[in-house]
This record gives sequence, C-alpha cells and structure tokens, in this order.
Amino acid sequence: MKRLIVVSNRVQPPSEEATGNQGGLALALSAVLRESNGIWFGWSGGETESFTGLINFQKSAGVTTATVDLEPQDILEYYDGFANRTLWPLFHYRVSLAEFEREFVDGYERVNTRFAETLLPLITHDDLVWVHDYHLIPLGQRLRERGVANRMGFFLHIPWPPMGLLVSLPNHQELVEQLFAYDVVGFHTQDWLDNFLDYARTHMDAEVDEDGTVRWQGRTLRALACPIGIDGAAYAQTAQSPTALAMCRQMHESANDRAMIVGVDRLDYSKGLQERFMGYERLLATREDLQEKIFLLQIAPPSRANVQTYQEIRAQLDSHSGRINGEFATVDWVPLRYVNKGYARDVLAGIYRAAKVGLVTPLRDGMNLVAKEFVAAQDPEDPGVLVLSNFAGAAAQMDAAVLVNPYSPEEIADALALALTMPVEERKARWRKLMDGVVNEDVMWWLDRFITALDPETATAGPAGAP
Ligand code: G6P
Repeated sequence: MKRLIVVSNRVQPPSEEATGNQGGLALALSAVLRESNGIWFGWSGGETESFTGLINFQKSAGVTTATVDLEPQDILEYYDGFANRTLWPLFHYRVSLAEFEREFVDGYERVNTRFAETLLPLITHDDLVWVHDYHLIPLGQRLRERGVANRMGFFLHIPWPPMGLLVSLPNHQELVEQLFAYDVVGFHTQDWLDNFLDYARTHMDAEVDEDGTVRWQGRTLRALACPIGIDGAAYAQTAQSPTALAMCRQMHESANDRAMIVGVDRLDYSKGLQERFMGYERLLATREDLQEKIFLLQIAPPSRANVQTYQEIRAQLDSHSGRINGEFATVDWVPLRYVNKGYARDVLAGIYRAAKVGLVTPLRDGMNLVAKEFVAAQDPEDPGVLVLSNFAGAAAQMDAAVLVNPYSPEEIADALALALTMPVEERKARWRKLMDGVVNEDVMWWLDRFITALDPETATAGPAGAP
C-alpha cells in the first residue's frame, strides 16, 4: 500500500477518546492515514506574525499531522477572502453574495504556493497525494511546477456551480485549468460533475469521454461522481452509547410529550435557516392544532465569524427566532429552541434519536452528512422522519426522505405536517430504505471508490479496500 498524504485547509486529528468531535470524513481519513503511515497536512488554524514554513508535527491516535501557521494577511485574503467570500458563495449559487477582489486572488495563490513549498520536502516518490476542497484548488499545479510527478487527486466537498454562474468569477478559466494538474477529480454528485464537464467541454473545448476522462491541451484527468457517506453502522452504535441514550432520555423528559423537530447546521447562509424558520412559522400559524404539541430545536454553532455575510445571517436569525417565540410562545411552551453551540457526536446522536423529525433544508449543499447521521441514529422500531432539501447533494441518494424545495416555506410547512403525523409503518419503510443506503454507501465505500480511481493497487491493499 502506498503512503497517503492528505491535504486540507482544516486538519482534524483524531482524539484519543472515542467521543471526540471528529466527523465521518475525518475518521475515515484517519483510518487510512494510520494504515498507510501517512501524513495529514494543512493549516493549524493559528496565526504567526510572518510566515516561516515551520511545520508542527504531531501524532494523535496513530495519525501524523503536519500543520503550519498563517500570517494575518493570509487568513484575511485566502481563508476569509477568496475561499469564503468569493468561492463559497459562488459555488453555492449565491453570486450576489460573492465578492471579487484581486487581493483575495493574490492571497489565495500565495497561500497555495506556501503550502506547496512547505509540503514538497515531505513527499517521497511513491506517495499518493490527495487534496481536499475549494481552499486548495491550485495546490496540485504548484506541486507539479516543483517537480512532483506522483499520482495526485482532488476532491471538492461543495457544489460545482453551473457554467453560467461560474463565469462571473473573473479568473474562472485559470481556476479550472489548475484542476488539470490532478489525475483524478471527485465531486459528490452527478449534478456537480455534469456542471464541471459542461464547462470543460463548452468553455475550454476539452474532449470529454463517457467515463469522465477529460483531455485538454495534452493533459488528462479523470472526473468522477463519488458521494461521501458516514460510517453508518458505527454511528448507529454511537446512538446507543450510554451518553447518547442518556441524552435521548433527557430530551424526552424536557420535551414533556411534545414532538421534537431537530435541525443541526453550521450557522451559514447556505443552510436555508431563515427559510426553515419561515416554514416552521407558517406551520404554527396555519395549524393551530399543533401549537403547544411540537417544538423545533435548531442547533447552529457560529462559523466564519469574521465574514460580514455570516454576521448578517446571525443577526437575522437572532431576530427571527425572537419573533417566532414572541408571537407563539405561551407561559409554559417555547416553540423554538435556538442554540448557538456545537455538541459532541454522541450527544448529537442522542438528540437525533429523540426527534420525531430531522429537518435538513440547505438551499444548496455539496452533500450534507447531518441527513445521514440523523437516519443512522434512529430507533428502527420507532424511527423519526427525515425532511430533506432537494438541493442537498444527499437528496440524490435519499429519495425515501420527504423531499422539499427549501425556498418554499409552504412546502416546508406541509412536509413538517406530513412527517409529524406519518403512521409508524410508513416511517419504518422509509427509514429502512434510507438506512440501507447509509450503511451500504458508507464512508469506506466512498474512500475506496476514490482511491481505486487514484491508485487501484493501494485501494485493494489497505482498509479502504476491505469489503
Ligand atoms: C464545509 C467545507 C469544509 C470546511 C467546513 C467547516 O464542510 O466543505 O472544507 O472545513 O465546511 O468550515 P470551516 O470554514 O470552519 O473550516
């Protein structure tokens, strides 16, 4: 098995305790990194006065991480700037929120060059290099320019926008050209892949084969749709851990026989939280019979707090949640519990298990793993219902959910009413289908498919190749 070098902006080393905050992706990557004696490289999340390229190596639960600090200007222009004020909104189809500043592009290029220079001495000739997400598109090219001839893959965890939107980015072609430094480029869904192929074909005049092989100016990449999953079986067990079961009981007690609807999202405008609140508000206004019988628990830990659009959405949700409670609450009923805090995986699993409805309504989302975790956490004998946005990548695999248009408060209200009154037989039948998908197309299946495309030999040798 070849050694794997994973590169991502955020590095999430596994914690020594099993209850850590690591998500499914981080857990799966950690498993392969451990097995292949690999390295996880990226930003430390910390800041230094001037960039030194000094690497901080750490080993945690058998996984080696190598991280670097960035300068304040780098963080401003690369992370807050091009990654989160330009690419994030644009790739989530929100062109009007995207800011196009040449300084951001410069900062993005500079940090990618710095990452390449720092990473270069760590790469040996047989390593597989796997770069993740929109922060690091140029990294492959920067490494190639420095003589790296290894197999290199790139995976995008957010949507790829349609060509008509992408062209509003002043340096769109340059950005796409940089992807051609990789041998394999992965997307979560066929839609995102098709958008990319459409651009390559139409805008770059690239030659596109049926299997996703794309040829352009003497370079070849293989593009594929490969939806990420969770470790469904392990998460189902987590939902029955003592912590989760205690949490589940606590939620039942505090619910006081009221049905809980739950949403868990980073506080991000792409998650459709305002529209979700409007949908819930509409349900309360139109279904008086449900008043005092239900409540919505929305967990939304703040994110990217230096970026103005995030400050704005936070302020809007603060006022919206206050309005809903002001209008509908009674002396002993709070219809909306709005919480700006994050919780550990096992605690969340217990909360999901106690919920009657999981409400996952992003306006656009690369995949959305909350949808899958909600399903995996349910009690098979009395499962809750998943209400899922049509525009989450997960919808392509989860058609047994109640699918909604997240822009429509009316559809959200109708879906909630349907979910809250759904007979147990239908809940079970839908859940069974969803759970089969979550377990079969799990995170190892995803990893194996991508690594097989990158390097078939490694895929069959390591844990990623296990059946
Ligand atoms: C999305 C992105 C990830 C990112 C995560 C959290 O899932 O695809 O790359 O790490 O959001 O965002 P943050 O800016 O806090 O890393």
